[in-house]
Amino acid sequence: MQIAQRIDRLGTETSFVVLARARELEAQGKDIVHLEIGEPDFDTAPNIVDAAKRALDAGYTHYGPAAGLPQFRKTIAEVEGARRGLEFKPDMVVVTPGAKPIMYYAIMATINPGDEVIYPNPGFPIYESAIELAGGTAVPLPLLESKGFSFNIEDLKALITKKTRMIVINSPQNPTGGILSQEDLREIAELAVKHDLWVLTDEIYGRVTYDGFKNYTIASYPGMMDRTIILDGFSKTYAMTGWRLGYGIMPRLLAEVVAKLQTNVASCTASFVQMAGIEALTGPQQWVDDVVEEFRRRRDLIVDGMNSIPGFKCHKPLGAFYVFPNTTGTGMDSRTLANKILNEGGVACLSGSTFGKYGEGYVRFSYANSMQNIEKGIERIRKLLS
Ligand SMILES: Cc1ncc(COP(=O)(O)O)c(C=O)c1O
Repeated sequence: MQIAQRIDRLGTETSFVVLARARELEAQGKDIVHLEIGEPDFDTAPNIVDAAKRALDAGYTHYGPAAGLPQFRKTIAEVEGARRGLEFKPDMVVVTPGAKPIMYYAIMATINPGDEVIYPNPGFPIYESAIELAGGTAVPLPLLESKGFSFNIEDLKALITKKTRMIVINSPQNPTGGILSQEDLREIAELAVKHDLWVLTDEIYGRVTYDGFKNYTIASYPGMMDRTIILDGFSKTYAMTGWRLGYGIMPRLLAEVVAKLQTNVASCTASFVQMAGIEALTGPQQWVDDVVEEFRRRRDLIVDGMNSIPGFKCHKPLGAFYVFPNTTGTGMDSRTLANKILNEGGVACLSGSTFGKYGEGYVRFSYANSMQNIEKGIERIRKLLS
């Protein structure tokens, strides 16, 4: 069997691999606490589910336009523009099955072989995978624990060359929970304008922030609307991971190219799912606020718990639903430690190194799980490592 060479450049997302291993252990009768997967444990709100049912009954079961249903693109432009204090037009929006395709489409549409793309490291592994698949060179920007998992501006400046085409940013961030400050965004924006770069800004956790912190978009800085691709979606904010619903907001001409890519790959996003998306954005939002408040309680619990484990030092994140404790004090490398915690402790988690080389020395835990399970998980790890 011959596999194409380009597949050698393709990475993957380890959380699904660890989930499969955890399920295997469960099938052998072991009890596992799942702190590996980045998926809210809540079910989608009933008003959204009802809207999907109504849409099915109303015949939204056919192909739709590649870029998304016009009424949904309009809703996204209005609601998401208002939330960010910006004016988006419906033709800047492309709806996709989940937010992930926007990463791939945006990179495929803008990066030529040999172009360099700077991306956060540790970071969501699919950025690197998509850049390399497009024939680009993935250039890691180290995120620093000492800066709340932001970066050093001098590091960023030093990485920009004549070949740099794009900077990828993600705030709030997976896997660290870090947030980019307005100062960080301003500095990145100035560099992007100066060097004529695209910025792909992954804002999928944009509404999951704590302690009064608000997430800002780099699109709002001078000169940025014409060079920014916003990636966002419904998986995290509305607990709709399995629905596969996301979108990109970008300059109109790029949106046309991205829609053409979608025609080639998926044709369109499921029509009744898009109708449910309209309800999610225009229906009651209290549900989102309540979920974020529940995540905050869990964050406080897990940060305290992690800091009580010998060899762990855990920074308190300001967004998303992950903690990324420094585990160098255990004397084990991240992979050995994560495997030990799963196989001997019965807690599924991800080695920091699966998020890139600068993730070595850390382990990621998702706290999208109940307070009870978080407590159980911490207790098990503490016992294992004491
Ligand atoms: C940073 C980040 N971006 C994008 C995604 C993909 O979201 P979706 O499930 O909507 O494709 C994830 C999912 O884990 C993520 O963590």
